[in-house]
Amino acid sequence: MLNSLPFQSSTDDIGDDSLFARIATDLNRQGFSVIPNALPEAMTTELFHQVLNMESEDFSHAGIGRHTDLTLNQFVRRDEIRWIDGQTSAEQLWLAWTHRLQQYLNRRLFLGLFSYESHFAHYQPGDFYRKHLDAFRGEANRRLSTVAYLNPGWLPGDGGELVIYESDAELEITKVTPAYGTLVVFLSEEFPHEVLAAKRHRYSIAGWFRVNSSSYDRVDPPR
Ligand code: OGA
Ligand code: MN
Repeated sequence: MLNSLPFQSSTDDIGDDSLFARIATDLNRQGFSVIPNALPEAMTTELFHQVLNMESEDFSHAGIGRHTDLTLNQFVRRDEIRWIDGQTSAEQLWLAWTHRLQQYLNRRLFLGLFSYESHFAHYQPGDFYRKHLDAFRGEANRRLSTVAYLNPGWLPGDGGELVIYESDAELEITKVTPAYGTLVVFLSEEFPHEVLAAKRHRYSIAGWFRVNSSSYDRVDPPR
């Protein structure tokens, strides 16, 4: 049982439950949630230290959808990523915490979230990610996107905001500063969003809760 993982006191669980409740309420009301200082401190410290100690060869350029052409990718997104697979204690804390978020949201909102995938992302100064959707209706099984930020002392002039748009249009809903400890959660199929170029190195963890769309001839998500 994941509930019996170490490093989780019952006090933390209570603190997380009120946070998870707020996320559920936001999702129910508006389809997205932006919460500064959301991430538990001990976990975030470990994640931050891991990111600081990662070398650039630990990261690789990400693909977009079916496009594997790096030149084309670079026009859309410039960030470099590293998938989280639980190889460090920081990653284990992250996976346990997001698993409890998943269970909470399934109980409260009946989302049927089945699995979670996530990666660190590093944006060098000038890097961006153009406006995109994380999932296309009927095509993908990403239901809920999460973004967590690991940037202490981020200032307004540093740029790098996450801009979230109305589902059908150009209208901007909100602009999120990628400040240390901020968590963003939104419905993957609903909200186009983009990452503006920053003047500093920018670190985040992007993740997606998926539903199980396995059929008789296809296991999905792959295991
Ligand atoms: C993504 C993404 C947003 C961010 O990786 O799909 O939209 O603020 N990231 O890092
Ligand atoms: Mn995205």
